[in-house]
Amino acid sequence: MAVQISENGRLFTLHTRNSSYQMYADPFGTLLHLYYGKRTDGENLSDLILRTDMGFAGNPPQAGSDRTYSLDYLPQELPSSGVGDYRDDCVRIRHSDGSCAAQFLFDSFQVTEGSYSIPGMPALYDTAKEAGQTLTITLREACSDVRVQLLYGVFEQSDIITRALKVVNAGKTPIVLEKALSMSMDILFGDYDMIFFAGRHAMERTLCRLPVKRAGVHIGSVRGTSSHHYNPSLVLCSPQADEDAGDCYGFCLAYSGDFTASAQQDQRGTTRVQAGIHPDRFSFRLEPGESFPTPQAILSYSSCGLSALSQNYHRILREHMCRGPWKHERRPVLINNWEATYFDFDKDKLLSIASQAAKLGIEMLVLDDGWFGKRNDDNSGLGDWFVNTEKLGGALGALSEEIHCMGMKFGLWFEPEMISEDSDLYRAHPDWALTIPGREPNRGRNQLVLDMANPEVRSYLLERMTDILSHAQIDYVKWDMNRSICDAYSSYLGPERTGEVCHRYVLGVYDLMECFLSRFPGVLLEGCSGGGGRFDAAMLYYSPQIWCSDNTDAVNRLSIQYGTSFFYPVSAVGAHVSACPNHQTGRSVPFRTRGDVAMAGSFGYELDLNQVSEEEKEQVKEQIEAFRHFYSLTHEGDYYRLTEPGKGDFMAWEFVDENREHAMLTIVQTESFGNPIPIHTDVKGLDPAKKYRCLMNGAVRSGASWMGAGLTPNRILKQYESLVIEFAREP
Ligand code: DGJ
Repeated sequence: MAVQISENGRLFTLHTRNSSYQMYADPFGTLLHLYYGKRTDGENLSDLILRTDMGFAGNPPQAGSDRTYSLDYLPQELPSSGVGDYRDDCVRIRHSDGSCAAQFLFDSFQVTEGSYSIPGMPALYDTAKEAGQTLTITLREACSDVRVQLLYGVFEQSDIITRALKVVNAGKTPIVLEKALSMSMDILFGDYDMIFFAGRHAMERTLCRLPVKRAGVHIGSVRGTSSHHYNPSLVLCSPQADEDAGDCYGFCLAYSGDFTASAQQDQRGTTRVQAGIHPDRFSFRLEPGESFPTPQAILSYSSCGLSALSQNYHRILREHMCRGPWKHERRPVLINNWEATYFDFDKDKLLSIASQAAKLGIEMLVLDDGWFGKRNDDNSGLGDWFVNTEKLGGALGALSEEIHCMGMKFGLWFEPEMISEDSDLYRAHPDWALTIPGREPNRGRNQLVLDMANPEVRSYLLERMTDILSHAQIDYVKWDMNRSICDAYSSYLGPERTGEVCHRYVLGVYDLMECFLSRFPGVLLEGCSGGGGRFDAAMLYYSPQIWCSDNTDAVNRLSIQYGTSFFYPVSAVGAHVSACPNHQTGRSVPFRTRGDVAMAGSFGYELDLNQVSEEEKEQVKEQIEAFRHFYSLTHEGDYYRLTEPGKGDFMAWEFVDENREHAMLTIVQTESFGNPIPIHTDVKGLDPAKKYRCLMNGAVRSGASWMGAGLTPNRILKQYESLVIEFAREP
């Protein structure tokens, strides 16, 4: 029973295989958070809270003269503002009289089979293998007709609990939502570290770990996208937790726009953790009868360290967020022309890359930026989604046909959400760009952002994309987005709804992606925002793979892909072999290593194959063979991080298949010294009772022995050399 209800419908315990989550509607009507952690038997844990009269901790009217009952310290599921909880609130409502206060009291609950969906936004869905259960708890505001429905989804087998909420204006006057996070949770006891993933363009998702303490750790994005700078995900873990041991809580927001995520200890040592839409630049007017749903937050708990926590996320996102035929179908090995040609290409150049690629076994050519409008650099043309037949020496249909005749698929780049001032679209519709009347806009990559909240804009884009895809054989689309959003003013929404622009923008993007995919369901979509600037769980609903970073340097990729792996499955990580010296860092890394690093992702190439040596061409063939051989491990198996960036002289990671019959371990030497000493790595995830042969040295040992003793590579690796080691089950 995933949702256990007791005590006359006031005690709610959500159970997954290895965790339990408990809430209690106390006699005053406050929905308390009692517990999230190792699985329990569901007994009422409210005696964990010792009520005391704390100075300067006020008491709500329901408590009468009882000074020990205070919202200022009680652990709650929905903290609000203006009624005596001085910590961060979750929902903030401005009533029509200007007051800003809300106290939410328990009203009712409902349990339903199946998981819940959220209108217009991605959410985890049911599959034949596992369906969720949903608990909806309705709270009513003490002094107005505002209701909040708290939604809890339980994926019992997957150890996942989801949260979202819906604010309903059931009154007769409008209200303004000034803040509506997806979740807030108070963990009563314990010190925690917060792990989060920070970065910048071309250096995304570097792991940061800070003690939470009283000052707290707050991250977020006000860039209109989930951003390169902070990922919308965090781990709270005990200070001792590592890959294999310790309490860890994951919080992953399925949202692609402005977000906030934080954890902070209060005066009693309770840790409040929150995630949701960033309240800056946000307000949402709800007329009588209207409601506002938040994005979904995906929670998981592991009592045995970070690897198990990550694996929970990998499985759930792979199985219950990614959709469409490419969810399980092997993704084509692609070659993208961006780093090979940038804007400087013509038909002959593209065909020469494609024909080399076809000979080596590459399965798809992706034509990147520059094929449309007047677009020979990044200063013009965005929005003019008409094929530049002059540059392509004819129609796109003809080019795509020639590529298909070579036995390859064909993919195409778009950046639908953008507009160049130097474009016919802008000349015709300047009001379609997000700009503030009377203020010259900020430009990013010399481009402006289209108002995705405007349905006319979306239908123009859908019509253009449909036209292009209907006149050429296009198997894949790379959906790019290359700037942060400011000047967030929509002439379509007008001055009253400025606070809604950023959220409605995201809803508009989701809507366009959904419409596009329903017209072209077989197309493989690869998400992109200047690399990994919109690498979030929600995007996986549309694009099962996302270009992980504009940085293709294999050594930098070690830490970018390491950080990405905490929440996102390897199947989602777009990773390519590119030329050396690397265009972003100037570093040279062996071709083999570039392949081995990119193989921990959805694999491809991004270089001019006409400039590649014969020896490297042979390696391309071998890499593709290896990618196919290891595909079910990398794309469906369990992933283990064996090292941390910056600690030690090498990086290593491992994949083990579901049945624990087959494993692959990759090592990249990151440092080297004179008179080198051998390295040694852990081996993880094998079945202790099974025997495995290590194909590197032929040694046969039990899983217990491999995992106990680890592995010493049979040769010294030079700096940036790599080694792939395979383990096969021995009968
Ligand atoms: C940014 C992307 O991340 C690159 O891969 C490339 O598509 C360029 N945009 C094209 O402008």
